[in-house]
Amino acid sequence: MSLSKSKSNANANHSSVAAAPKPAISPSSIENDAAQNLQSSMEDSAPSNKLDFVHDAVLLEETVAAVLGVKSLPKQKDGDQNGLNISGIYVDATFGRGGHSRLLLSQLADDATLIVFDKDPTAISVAQELASKDSRVHVVHDSFATLTDSLAAMGISEVDGLMADLGISSPQIDDGSRGFSFMRDGAVDMRMDTSRGQSVAEWLEQVDDETLANVLYEFGEERHSRRIARAIKQMDSYESTLELAEVIKEAHPNWQRGKHPATQSFQAMRIFINNELGDVDDFLAQSIAILKSGGQLAVISFHSLEDRRIKQFLQRHSKGQYPEDENLPMPPNRPRYFSKPKRVGPSKAETSQNPRARSAWLRMATRTDTEYQQTAAP
Ligand SMILES: C[S@@+](CC[C@H](N)C(=O)[O-])C[C@H]1O[C@@H](n2cnc3c(N)ncnc32)[C@H](O)[C@@H]1O
Repeated sequence: MSLSKSKSNANANHSSVAAAPKPAISPSSIENDAAQNLQSSMEDSAPSNKLDFVHDAVLLEETVAAVLGVKSLPKQKDGDQNGLNISGIYVDATFGRGGHSRLLLSQLADDATLIVFDKDPTAISVAQELASKDSRVHVVHDSFATLTDSLAAMGISEVDGLMADLGISSPQIDDGSRGFSFMRDGAVDMRMDTSRGQSVAEWLEQVDDETLANVLYEFGEERHSRRIARAIKQMDSYESTLELAEVIKEAHPNWQRGKHPATQSFQAMRIFINNELGDVDDFLAQSIAILKSGGQLAVISFHSLEDRRIKQFLQRHSKGQYPEDENLPMPPNRPRYFSKPKRVGPSKAETSQNPRARSAWLRMATRTDTEYQQTAAP
């Protein structure tokens, strides 16, 4: 079975952003180098076929071991199918080019199920090709924020493991036509799902200076957001990522060595247009009800806006604490839905081979046997 469907509201872009003069997170806490790491590792020539762009999976063995609930994977000898042969239902919420999914499949039994999600139509084509050869794989072209509904449509109400490798993939950056790159020219698009929603260019045409500045500050921690927003809004059109990057560069008064001045602004617009943080919040909240007792959650993030959310979510639901909110009474019985979470970073060997891994963190936890209460705070 291969499920490809579209939900008109699943990738709905934001129509507004909180007009907060300051983000909740201090400027020093954000790591804006993830996109820079990715872009600076780009090769000079791009393949002509979109399916040929490659992605080096980050924290590969660590994440697959985590989602299976084992300390490590068995060493695989050449040509040897020495997998763990584990049954159950697993979800890879961010298929990309399937690096994690393929290793996971090598450890799963013939009767296991792997459901893969991605917003990106090209990633979905690769996933469908895999599904045509491996009947354990089921494909959902949608946001992982639709987790519960998408699984329910397949008759699934609980799973053994959930993994997500957040953000954008190397193929998305390397293909200039997608608009994510400030080093390759293309239309100013930046949508992960090109089949729906508004592109950054369309949004820039109608957004006001102040809202744009707030987005640059909130999602990119760009200190010079107002000046950059003004310069962007003075542009005649938004047809070229290189032109946009050049305008940001000119407007930016404080260049940092080794970092393109448009790094934070591009990150901010990308996070905003794809509703990346909202989707992560929705996915995490749904993981509580979807994971079986003893099921595993494993999430890789590449910048602190995401990592902080995952950390706080797991802390809240492993310690049984709810957010400090004076207006809400503390419930007498605070459920602990997850075991004490663990965090793993990349090895030196991995970061020297793959610069993109430098800013990655994997956070993982096991679902406890505490019954889910519908009223739980996300
Ligand atoms: C870092 S890549 C994943 C790479 C993958 N683990 C691999 O080994 O090839 C992230 C992928 O997640 C997808 N993605 C990001 N946010 C998503 C969301 N909310 N729902 C579904 N897919 C999403 C992107 O389109 C991209 O293909």
